[in-house]
Amino acid sequence: QTDGLASRPPMGWNSWNHFHRNVDDAAVRAQADAMVSSGMRDAGYVYVNIDDTWQGERDAQGNIQANSRFPDMKALADYVHSKGLKIGIYSSPGALTCAKFAGSLGHEVQDARTYAAWGMDYLKYDLCGLREQMKVAATPEEAHKIMFDAYIKMRDALKATGRPIVYSLCQYGNDAVWRWGTEVGGNLWRTTGDISDKYSSMEAIGFSQAGLAKFAGPGHWNDPDMLEVGNGGMNADEYRTHMSLWAILAAPLLAGNDLSTMTAETKAMLTNRDVIAVDQDAAGKQGDRAWVEGPLEIWVRQLADGSKAVGVFNRHPSPLTTTVDFKALGFTRAVKARDIWQGKDMGTISAPFTAKIPGHGVLFLKVSQ
Ligand code: DGJ
Repeated sequence: QTDGLASRPPMGWNSWNHFHRNVDDAAVRAQADAMVSSGMRDAGYVYVNIDDTWQGERDAQGNIQANSRFPDMKALADYVHSKGLKIGIYSSPGALTCAKFAGSLGHEVQDARTYAAWGMDYLKYDLCGLREQMKVAATPEEAHKIMFDAYIKMRDALKATGRPIVYSLCQYGNDAVWRWGTEVGGNLWRTTGDISDKYSSMEAIGFSQAGLAKFAGPGHWNDPDMLEVGNGGMNADEYRTHMSLWAILAAPLLAGNDLSTMTAETKAMLTNRDVIAVDQDAAGKQGDRAWVEGPLEIWVRQLADGSKAVGVFNRHPSPLTTTVDFKALGFTRAVKARDIWQGKDMGTISAPFTAKIPGHGVLFLKVSQ
């Protein structure tokens, strides 16, 4: 992307994982308030994103209106902006969204204008309803073209508004979207199906991202879906794995929990400065799997200052002891390491280093020479 948007992976919050269909104006305001009072805004979280189910009927001129849960979108956007935050909205290139609310098919230009007039800064464009159109295509190539053209149509409509709007493609990684996401103007694109608040779901998504690093960079990111941290279905070690892996993957960090009721532990995980620094690293280079032995995996991300973020993951449910050979990870001399989650410098390490990794957990290090 050359539009200067999303030069770092977007950070913020999205309504879907926690609220699903129960999102409304009051909930969004409460999240914006909590994003500020919790310190999340100051840690870098900016976007407050409304997902599916905000839509109402179109008026006589075809303008989309919010439903009764969102009495005044412009006022809501103004409120979110007044907190020093940005706001996002959601639609589908099909006639209907996944939750069967009005999509943008045939109204792309008009809808983009409406979003811009409301003050929207981010659009998640979710394939769903367009699959009906794609089904009538005679060949997979034709189906692909229907999708490709639909994403281009909204890209151009957004551009024509003159308002900078981050464009988030959501079509669940189909047709290797990472190969053409930038062509249709995507600032980020989902690489997989939906995440759920279970270790098995997060693990299957996170560890499947090997090999995708070369497709990401400033302005165009792989999106392994929103965070589940704090939603209650994983333990603290599992949520730390979730955060660490997403940071190594240069993934968008879109919290998916209720920020207004989160525990101190959840807040500490979401706002950990060292984790966020890895995710938002200036070089914008996504990390990748570097080593695997049974359930143990090491993922490495090169950082702008010459150091590397190193995640030693244990996918087994019980603790395992392993030896980390920094030489095998490309370090030629003794290394200096910082344990990110412990917040502790470990000093200089010259020999292979043995560590016990909690079940489903991670040892997350910043390593330099
Ligand atoms: C499918 C998407 O992948 C989810 O993230 C969410 O946006 C739902 N649709 C909403 O219907």
